[in-house]
Amino acid sequence: TAAATALALTVTAGAASAEACQDGEIVVKFSHVTNTDKHPKGIAASLLEKRVNEEMDGTMCMVVYPNSTLYDDNKVLEAMLQGDVQLAAPSLSKFEKFTKQFRLFDLPFMFKNIDAVDAFQGSEHGQAMLDSMQRRGLQGLAYWHNGMKQMSANKPLLAPSDANGLKFRVQSSDVLVAQMEAIGGSPQKMAFSEVYGALQQGVVDGQENTWSNIYGKKFFEVQDGITETDHGIIDYLVVTNIDWLESLDPAVRDQFTTILGEVTATRNAESTKVNNDAKAAIVEAGGTVRTLDGEQRQAWVDVMKPVWAQFAGDVGQDMIDAAQSINA
Ligand code: LMR
Repeated sequence: TAAATALALTVTAGAASAEACQDGEIVVKFSHVTNTDKHPKGIAASLLEKRVNEEMDGTMCMVVYPNSTLYDDNKVLEAMLQGDVQLAAPSLSKFEKFTKQFRLFDLPFMFKNIDAVDAFQGSEHGQAMLDSMQRRGLQGLAYWHNGMKQMSANKPLLAPSDANGLKFRVQSSDVLVAQMEAIGGSPQKMAFSEVYGALQQGVVDGQENTWSNIYGKKFFEVQDGITETDHGIIDYLVVTNIDWLESLDPAVRDQFTTILGEVTATRNAESTKVNNDAKAAIVEAGGTVRTLDGEQRQAWVDVMKPVWAQFAGDVGQDMIDAAQSINA
């Protein structure tokens, strides 16, 4: 049928396919939404796939489906609970249906850089969050870094008031909705795969994202420019179905989680460089990058930071305090 043909084409277009797995191997489908090149998550996922397939040959077979070819982030966790996919790494902004704890990471200006994010995630509080969705059937395995978010629109954004009346795409997070409302914008939740078209057609005027996402999906081509605000972060939770994880033979599970831990450490150490390279590539390709002086940036802090108060109840003031003491 046409549907089957379309599916076959999609699968063939990927780097690997589940058909290439041998009989008896545990097939691990890893679905994500970004590109694979010059992207922290894309590179990490490909490295994980390569290492699992080399070192666990005959036991486990991983197939990565990048670029939303298998699922959008708003569908992937349900698919995981159905057993249709075993691994995903949605941004921490995309877990609202399962936990409100991760809202901490979306609060604007909570973390000054990815090192601070890393330190918080490695703390007792951050590690406990990995287990926060067990009752919902999901187990966090690792945090993967992307980087700091920047603002872009179809007009120059220097003062927050420049955003007044503009429509902004946001990830599926109420914190990000509140943040865009705080700058006078009208936010619209939208899947990552739809952003380029929505910017191009003027369905939305602007968006926020990391350099690697703005480069990887070419958003800079359909925006006036990108303002270097560093106002928030995009980071990921590598997540799995807890029943699937527990069904694995302990030795197999250990080997898999050990490889994942090593890939995490190796690639997280490079995430800032990958984003800086993507920023340079945007400039190289003719994209406009605008920087803010201290006073201009402070204006964004003043307008956005009051959003914390709206969500302190969800995330817990103790968590905010813990993050801020690490961020000091
Ligand atoms: C987004 O939707 O903008 C990001 O979460 C995409 C991603 O995975 O980095």
